[in-house]
Amino acid sequence: MALKQTIAYNYLKATNLSFEKLGLREVSLTSASRFKEYPNAPKIKLFLGDYPKTKSFFEILESRRSERDYKKIPISLKELNWLCYAVQGITATVGSYLLRTAPSAGALYPIETYLGVNFSTDLKPGIYHLEIKTFSLELLKEGYFGKELTDLALGQSFFATASVVFIWSAVLRRTLSKYGSRGLRYIFMDCAHICQNLLLACEALGFKACPVGAFLDENFNEFLGLDGEEESVIYLATVGK
Ligand SMILES: Cc1cc2nc3c(=O)[nH]c(=O)nc-3n(C[C@H](O)[C@H](O)[C@H](O)COP(=O)(O)O)c2cc1C
Repeated sequence: MALKQTIAYNYLKATNLSFEKLGLREVSLTSASRFKEYPNAPKIKLFLGDYPKTKSFFEILESRRSERDYKKIPISLKELNWLCYAVQGITATVGSYLLRTAPSAGALYPIETYLGVNFSTDLKPGIYHLEIKTFSLELLKEGYFGKELTDLALGQSFFATASVVFIWSAVLRRTLSKYGSRGLRYIFMDCAHICQNLLLACEALGFKACPVGAFLDENFNEFLGLDGEEESVIYLATVGK
């Protein structure tokens, strides 16, 4: 089969930038709210700062590996603070823009972070949403969901033994309303930056982590109550010890 017949090739072609196409739009999309909040969810405030001393940046780069052998070790709230800070911590405010630890095309920040906390010394097990403006975790549903997360990740059993699972979704409209379908490239790039921050932070803090792209998209969306159109799960990472 020729590559030209694939959706991937045709997507790349259709979203190439050229001088002729600059400013042209296939459809006009209104934007979406830049921040997501669950107003009725119990909130746990996180903090920014108070960073631990770690090995050097280049030692961290040298030793990072994807690791999946976890021993159900509880993670503390302090450690979760640092991981959430690495993922989407606010590092500067410019007008109404809250700039973060990871870059984002147009500073539009289309990625939402959810946490499946399996084992923690301070938090109830459950599914949480990282709310950016007040930098808090919002408890969406309580309980140990390691088994469900494993099933959603096509039976990858380390989801059940990880201390915490990071789940990233994309609010497509935030980026597509500015960049059209080319924006989907940027959304994946944004998410990869966020995930790499997490992986390096885990290496710095002595956690094992693994990025995961294999999961049942529609079932995962359903599990989180996402509609799969405005917002969809696009990437995962497990963290454990
Ligand atoms: C986009 C992406 C998707 C991945 N998906 C999975 C996955 O579904 N399951 C898994 O066990 N590892 C997954 N990995 C981890 C890779 O297997 C791993 O990065 C690769 O073997 C290189 O090893 P290293 O990360 O230790 O350098 C994924 C990595 C990336 C970047």
